[in-house]
Amino acid sequence: MSARRPLIAGNWKMNKTGVEAREHIARLRAHLGEGDLVAEVAVCPPFTALEATARAASGSAVRVLAQAVHEAEKGAHTGEISAGMIVAAGADGTLVGHSERRAAGETDDQVAARVRAALDAGLSVIMCCGESLEQREAGETEAWLTGQVRAGLAQVAAGEVGVLAIAYEPIWAIGTGRTATPEIAQETCALVRRVAGERLDPAALRVLYGGSVTPETAPGLLGRPDIDGALVGGASLDPDAFAAIVGAAQP
Ligand code: PGA
Repeated sequence: MSARRPLIAGNWKMNKTGVEAREHIARLRAHLGEGDLVAEVAVCPPFTALEATARAASGSAVRVLAQAVHEAEKGAHTGEISAGMIVAAGADGTLVGHSERRAAGETDDQVAARVRAALDAGLSVIMCCGESLEQREAGETEAWLTGQVRAGLAQVAAGEVGVLAIAYEPIWAIGTGRTATPEIAQETCALVRRVAGERLDPAALRVLYGGSVTPETAPGLLGRPDIDGALVGGASLDPDAFAAIVGAAQP
């Protein structure tokens, strides 16, 4: 049995209003029941639904995380949200460095600063990394992920391993229905763990896989030794499918 409790997080992306989030959480709670779960469970609603989701999830095992955070405490950053605002909305963590944010301009330095700002505010963090299809086919995956992981963790202290997880999400597998094979996911999550191990205890760090995880693909992925959970996009929008993925987590 691994010392690392699996973490299954649903990234709702730009989906669901507060009203829809409340309905979703009610259904998810009914599925998960009140007993102890093998996995830690989290959902990442859009900013506008954070507060409603946190209220609906209150008293349950479902944790609420934001999808992104800005590194500044406040100021002239139109459209951005600070870590303190996320805390005030009732969430207790955030994603940082999702590939869709990086594609929109988020740099490695910003990822590092945002990880730091989130941790300083008392939020837990899931830091995302992943290579493109071109990079994988060119044999650049290892060098690319090594750079992303080293850069993103640059301001993290060893003692913070318990409040930080890394999600390995190959860009070619996100939203494409083309899940990485369990072999590729395992091998690459192991690589991420090795690199992160330069800063954090690799035996304590949780490394998640993300990219077209479904109730069908989850069991094969979650059974691998270096895959400590999943970051789920599309399939997390349906509480039935998401609960099935949570149920596939193994101790
Ligand atoms: P997907 O998204 O499950 O829809 O591929 C995963 C993610 O982007 O976190």
